[in-house]
Amino acid sequence: MQLDDLYRRVIMDHYKTPRNKGQFDSDDAVSIELNNPTCGDKITLQLQIVDDIVQNAKYTGDGCSISLSSASMMTDAVKGKSLEEALQIAEDFSALMKGQPVEFEYEDIEALSGVNKFPARIKCATLAWNALRKGIEKSKHEHEQA
Ligand code: FES
Ligand code: FES
Repeated sequence: MQLDDLYRRVIMDHYKTPRNKGQFDSDDAVSIELNNPTCGDKITLQLQIVDDIVQNAKYTGDGCSISLSSASMMTDAVKGKSLEEALQIAEDFSALMKGQPVEFEYEDIEALSGVNKFPARIKCATLAWNALRKGIEKSKHEHEQA
C-alpha cells in the first residue's frame, strides 16, 4: 500500500473511531489544555499517572482530523508506559515529523509521517504530543511539591 493511502486510512480510522476520547472525573488526573496557535483548535488531555506509569489517558478537543487522530494514537500508545518510555515515544514522534524513518511499537503512528508532505499540518499532528510533554512535566512538578 502507498503511504498516502495508509496515511488516509489510518487517520480516518482514528478520527471516526477515536480511542480514549472523553474525560475521567478523577481528581488525581493531570489536565492540560493546549491550542494550536495557527488555527485556534484546542485539545484537552488528561493523564492519570500512578507511580510514574501512565495508567490512563483521555482527550477531548475541537480540531481537524489530523490533530484528533494523532491524539487518539498518542493516548493509546502511552497507556501503560512509564513516564520515561512515554517521553521517548514523544521524542521518536518528533524525529518522525522531521522526516526521519522511525519504527513504533504502536505502528499506526508511522502513518502520520504522511504529514511531512503537508508541512502546514505538522502542527496539527504535533498538538497532542506537546500536550503529553506538558502533562508529564506538570505531573513531575506536582509530585516534587507534594
Ligand atoms: Fe492545521 Fe493549518 S494549523 S492546517
Ligand atoms: Fe487546527 Fe489542525 S487545523 S489542529
